[in-house]
Amino acid sequence: MAEKLEVPVTERPGMAAASPVTRHPSPVTSHPSPVTSSSWWQRTTIYQIYPRSFLDSNGDGIGDLNGITARLDYLRDLGVETIWVSPFYPSPLADHGYDISDYCGVAPEYGTMADLERLLDETHRRGMKLLMDMVLNHTSDQHPWFVESRSSRDNPKADWYIWRDGKGDKPPNNWIALPGGRGWHYSRERRQWYMASFLPFQPDLNWRNPEVKQAMWDVVRFWLGKGVDGFRLDIFSSIMKDARFADNPFSPGLHAGGIPGLYKPSMQLNHPDTFALARELRQVVREFGEPERILLGEVFGSKEEHRQLLGGATNDGLNLVFIFDFHFLRRPQRTARFFRSVVRSFERHFPPPFQPTYVFGNHDQRRLMSKLENDAGLARVLAVFQMTVRGVPTVYMGEEIGMTDLFVPKERAQDPVSKLYDWVPDWVRGWLPVNLNRDQNRTPMQWEDGENAGFCPPGTTPWLPVNEASARTANVVAQQEDPRSLLNLYRSLLGLRREHAELHSGTLTLVEGLPESVLGYFRHFEGRRLLVLLNFAPASIELRLPESYSLLLGSAPECELVPGGVRLAAKSGVVLQVQ
Ligand code: NOJ
Repeated sequence: MAEKLEVPVTERPGMAAASPVTRHPSPVTSHPSPVTSSSWWQRTTIYQIYPRSFLDSNGDGIGDLNGITARLDYLRDLGVETIWVSPFYPSPLADHGYDISDYCGVAPEYGTMADLERLLDETHRRGMKLLMDMVLNHTSDQHPWFVESRSSRDNPKADWYIWRDGKGDKPPNNWIALPGGRGWHYSRERRQWYMASFLPFQPDLNWRNPEVKQAMWDVVRFWLGKGVDGFRLDIFSSIMKDARFADNPFSPGLHAGGIPGLYKPSMQLNHPDTFALARELRQVVREFGEPERILLGEVFGSKEEHRQLLGGATNDGLNLVFIFDFHFLRRPQRTARFFRSVVRSFERHFPPPFQPTYVFGNHDQRRLMSKLENDAGLARVLAVFQMTVRGVPTVYMGEEIGMTDLFVPKERAQDPVSKLYDWVPDWVRGWLPVNLNRDQNRTPMQWEDGENAGFCPPGTTPWLPVNEASARTANVVAQQEDPRSLLNLYRSLLGLRREHAELHSGTLTLVEGLPESVLGYFRHFEGRRLLVLLNFAPASIELRLPESYSLLLGSAPECELVPGGVRLAAKSGVVLQVQ
């Protein structure tokens, strides 16, 4: 439900004209609300670490587990509560770890099992949680299971992957690969086609085979037994496919993840059996009791499909799913109106006890600051938004210091997606909304302004080049010392969020009648209320408020309370407490 607040606008001389405001005669008192979130994972904040690029502790140019352990104090002081670490399993690294060849091991370049156990202990000792990345949909083509499966049509693992005869010399049907191109690949060895939802070297497991399911549940139990707090689940919506292998229907448009295509991949995405599998997996995870371990799905599809993955009405599927409405953040989306529409939609589809997630970037997407075309003011507005809206925020490492993408020419790219699109020239890539070279957003974390930005020792060659221009100001050391830095804003916001149950556990009501450039919402918890106001415009604005408030946080020094209201600096946000 939307809340109405009387907010006439006072324009200051020289200020850009604000859009007309709907005035409401009387302020509406907000209502006490029920407790909405009680489990740790509903209140938490997540920080994603791409381990290869976080911190190199042994001077080989590759980030590692000990590097993460060494920076746990940084993460605790930043105020994030859960870390999600991208894959560090043994892998031929054709997709940098999302192609696993041993599900119960640690790749030597990342460390040892003992290092992982220490990382887990140290994380828990600081009161934090650790999520691993689990790739259930596919393995590496070098995994012994696939090597065996491919070797003949009648070996013991013959049915562990999705094998079909073709139609003549054509693939079995029109299923696609998510990054583009067809999903089926021919094996001369077996003289059959196998399905791969991502790249050809990532064959899809056959989840209709009970042995596969059992083997993967054992993997899940293995890590839970070690004490991990849950998993981020890679392309979970792809796992179960149509059992009849029917063609995808003709339906030109933007499909899975905003990729254009002629056929809607409905026979291979969000199958009802995937919803059932989510429930089954939640039961496996529940075997480990309290505190609850969790499942966070990387999924694609409609909001209704997301809800089904969360278990539908019974809410007993995955705990959380990523919702990628901010994948592109193109100019028309960088407005209060767009953000308002997203909040409205998330509130409608994921009311309590569902908990939405708010994510602006990850190791696959362009970095937030680059999506915003380096608009530092807007980055601050979005930080206030992300930490105060109802949902679990996920920060991709480096977002908190405003790291930007680094242009990596395709000839030097390591990302297999870039190689897949080798025929697309660099100058065209810059204009495309989709990210064809994920190296640009995976460059090493910038700890300081110096050689290799503190990621690896001087004289070492990092696995991907450091973004030196960005590191001059976007680095941890410099920003820790500057009270007005983006890093310190994130810290203040995360601190505020911990302190105020309204923010981590309260309900949300949108404020109606605000100027076009302003987004506002109340957060309620047990009769207490906070009001968040975000000004997306490049000009300051004054809003008259019907009640008295104290200012808990302003993202710019010029944000202040004025008699009867509040002044928001250009591109700024405030958090106010109702007195
Ligand atoms: C999604 C992951 O985020 C991405 O990095 C990976 O390449 C694909 N899944 C395939 O596992």
